[in-house]
Amino acid sequence: MPNMKRTHTCGQLRRTDVKSAATLVGWVSSVRDHGGLIFIDLRDRYGITQVVFDPTKGKEFYDTAGQLRPEYVVAIQGIVSPRPEGTLNPNLDTGEIEVFADTLEILNRSETPPFEITDDSNVSLELRLKHRYLDLRRSAMQKRLIFRHKVCQTIREYLDRLNFVDIETPVLTKSTPEGARDYLVPSRVNLGKFYALPQSPQLFKQILMVAGYDRYFQIVRCFRDEDLRAQRQPEFTQMDMEMSFVDEYDIIQVIEGLIAAIFDKVLDKKITTPFPRLSYKEAMTSYGCDAPDLRFGMKIKDVSDIVQKSDFKVFSDTIKSGGQVRGMNASGCGNFSRKDIDDLTAFVGQFGAKGLAWFKVEESGLSSSIAKFFSSETLEKLQRHMDAKKGDLLLFVADKPRVVSQSLAQLRLHLGQKNKLIDTATFNFSWVVDFPLFDYNEDLKRYEALHHPFTSPHPDDLPTMEQKPLEVKARAYDLVLNGVELGGGSIRIHTPEVQKRVFRLLGIDDESAYAKFGFLLDALKYGAPPHGGIALGVDRMVTLLLQLDDIREVIAFPKTQKATCLMTNAPSEVDAKQLSELGIRLI
Ligand code: AMO
Ligand code: AMP
Repeated sequence: MPNMKRTHTCGQLRRTDVKSAATLVGWVSSVRDHGGLIFIDLRDRYGITQVVFDPTKGKEFYDTAGQLRPEYVVAIQGIVSPRPEGTLNPNLDTGEIEVFADTLEILNRSETPPFEITDDSNVSLELRLKHRYLDLRRSAMQKRLIFRHKVCQTIREYLDRLNFVDIETPVLTKSTPEGARDYLVPSRVNLGKFYALPQSPQLFKQILMVAGYDRYFQIVRCFRDEDLRAQRQPEFTQMDMEMSFVDEYDIIQVIEGLIAAIFDKVLDKKITTPFPRLSYKEAMTSYGCDAPDLRFGMKIKDVSDIVQKSDFKVFSDTIKSGGQVRGMNASGCGNFSRKDIDDLTAFVGQFGAKGLAWFKVEESGLSSSIAKFFSSETLEKLQRHMDAKKGDLLLFVADKPRVVSQSLAQLRLHLGQKNKLIDTATFNFSWVVDFPLFDYNEDLKRYEALHHPFTSPHPDDLPTMEQKPLEVKARAYDLVLNGVELGGGSIRIHTPEVQKRVFRLLGIDDESAYAKFGFLLDALKYGAPPHGGIALGVDRMVTLLLQLDDIREVIAFPKTQKATCLMTNAPSEVDAKQLSELGIRLI
């Protein structure tokens, strides 16, 4: 039997341990043969310790040490010694000592890995995901996963202290509409029927409120079949919670306390609460999106009133047909070349803008190829309204509100990054509140829920909900960090009558409402308490706290852009027999 019971980890030994005996186990990180002595760096997730093999101390072990290669798994026993003067390594916690080995046992050999297990090796994501066990062995990845674990521990401790109960909800279930496609699982014992993997535990947590568990939480996997981007995965983790007898500000307070606890316990930083709140309208007007990055200014401004009577047809015609002209002051960008502006025009083109009107601010006022279409009075008004001074560049888009918002929101972020206006070391939290309950889908010609259909309308808007659906405010709130939506939640509908009214407005008649959500409508009949909650994206939160760009960096086994797992090769074909048992034929 190999002796692999370690006495210390590879990150533990210090000068105070000198002369003690130690048994270490781990992976060989590197091997160096220095004229007679063999040195290895022995690695585990706690650190690296230098181990020395001296032929005079034991020929047999010395010869075995000569066979060692990177990623061999070994156990050594030896005596801790101080490193000789001049060979101390200040970059290692164990850098003042080394262990002179008396025994060496190879527990397992390794083939030459496809990439070196170091933090600075520049390896393609594809290769990293294929050999994720090697990638996860890198200390940077281990630190990230341990950080994530600490965030989750802090969440559990904090919520437990506040009397929240962690309750599991089913994975094989019925679809909950959160706006994405469902992953479906065929049922063998109920041929032709399917479970849906939950897009969130939304309905179960509401039902737990009806059942009297007035404070629920769960760190839970959710599944959404949607187009993947850097901040999205087909399966991801939510910190999901729900409370009874509360209003929006109770939820906001609990979450602010939770974020403060995470900053305190995990990052050792203080964060100022309460976080600023801005209305959906303010967010859309000044930033063009509902998750604004408030780390820098460059607010968007509406100039429709000022330019509507100008001779510039692009502007005046757009306004006449119900559109708008909005823009921003790219302060200090007056020296942008024609090519720079063409690039910005192409950039906003990706978001539907048909062009980008510009004015440079000079000593004499605004100058542009289109300045001739505006009276000097209008140009002066424009300059004043945009707070423009010499050396600035004004940029405008004329279009339907949606296109203007989308393109200017992206342009603002683009210029903010390009001009280094964003302090990437800060964490800027905010709440977006006062969302509309409904949105109108022009393509499908119907109303849609801006959050989900269980969100409560504001009581003031209830009497006229059917007459003016687009004016109904939702009791919803989103948490935004550095321009990313970290979480969303709401106070819910808790009576079957209101729930049915909302379904009807969404084009779900009573019959189909019962077919889809009968269990919820039934539960609401039996004494449902007023309740509300929120879910935070754990993967997103950890990514942002670690100041990374891609959520795959904080998920042990993530999927690619095409929702595949390069390590297991999932999804994969299945046997014809399995399909036939499920009553499925591929077309
Ligand atoms: P929502 O759909 O806003 O709300 O989701 C909550 C948070 O989950 C994260 N998130 C994702 N993270 C990674 N990949 C994805 N594909 C993905 N989709 C969402 C986001 C988001 O803010 N049931 C409601 C919550 C509630 O009302 O209580 C819900 O799921 O950070
Ligand atoms: P044109 O008249 O098409 O040559 O455009 C003159 C200027 O107006 C160019 O700088 C275009 O980029 C800009 N422009 C064209 N369409 C729009 C629009 N919808 N919004 C803002 N600027 C536009």
